[in-house]
Amino acid sequence: MQTWSDAVKRQDKRIAFVPTMGFLHEGHLSLMKEGRRLGDKLAVSIFVNPAQFGPTEDLESYPRDFDRDCELSEKEGADVIFAPDELYGREFQTYIKLEKLPNHLCGISRPVHFRGVATVVTKLFNIVKPDIAIFGEKDYQQLLVIRQMARDLNFDTEIVGGPIVREPDGLAMSSRNSYLTDEQRVSALSLSKSLKKARAIIEKGITDAAKIIEEASAIITSHPETVIDYIAICDAETLDDMQSIDRPALMALAVKVGKTRLIDNAILSPPH
Ligand code: PAF
Repeated sequence: MQTWSDAVKRQDKRIAFVPTMGFLHEGHLSLMKEGRRLGDKLAVSIFVNPAQFGPTEDLESYPRDFDRDCELSEKEGADVIFAPDELYGREFQTYIKLEKLPNHLCGISRPVHFRGVATVVTKLFNIVKPDIAIFGEKDYQQLLVIRQMARDLNFDTEIVGGPIVREPDGLAMSSRNSYLTDEQRVSALSLSKSLKKARAIIEKGITDAAKIIEEASAIITSHPETVIDYIAICDAETLDDMQSIDRPALMALAVKVGKTRLIDNAILSPPH
């Protein structure tokens, strides 16, 4: 992989990179399209990163379909697919850990997650040597973590965010949607519905964060098999809680539907 990247760089060409854990969907493909637009060569990685899963999480059952992923990536114009069997030697002991951003939202119920993400992305960047890397905004906190890490450690890679891609009924695309039964999929719609409701009540003049969270929570708990991990309204850069929508804010939520943990988010603007 490094040899390929070095050869591309010698030709003065820019490498755009989309890192994935595979089981690709339209969300990933939209990031690849953006990569194609921004770079001269497109690199895609497929690696289910054990370091970002907690001991009771779904590492073993995480959906995989390597042949289909290769087919889709090639169709989207990937010039190279990097799919290592493993990335951590037996004696591995060097991790990247951010001080503040992981102490919010998903980082609270997934204490090792962002350390695993930051570490694998650093390793992938050192191997793929991208000029540009594209990450989905559905994992909004992950995007902030990677941007911060790239700034803090002077990575020579531009970090670009790609918008959330949704199913026609509003469900944010995720590889984990494949775990849902038909009934659970209906419950999963409560995440996007609650974000839509938040926007609607803000337009009516309600800007109190606690009230908006209460309304969102009522929508989610009215659906079967849902357990809220968090619903937060917070600063879109620091992730610190906000009391009122007096400037654009991030509303982010994580909900377990059956055994499947889903996330979604939206930027909320103050009323017109
Ligand atoms: O967003 C993902 O799929 C993963 O967290 C990433 C960035 C590929 C790192 O494993």
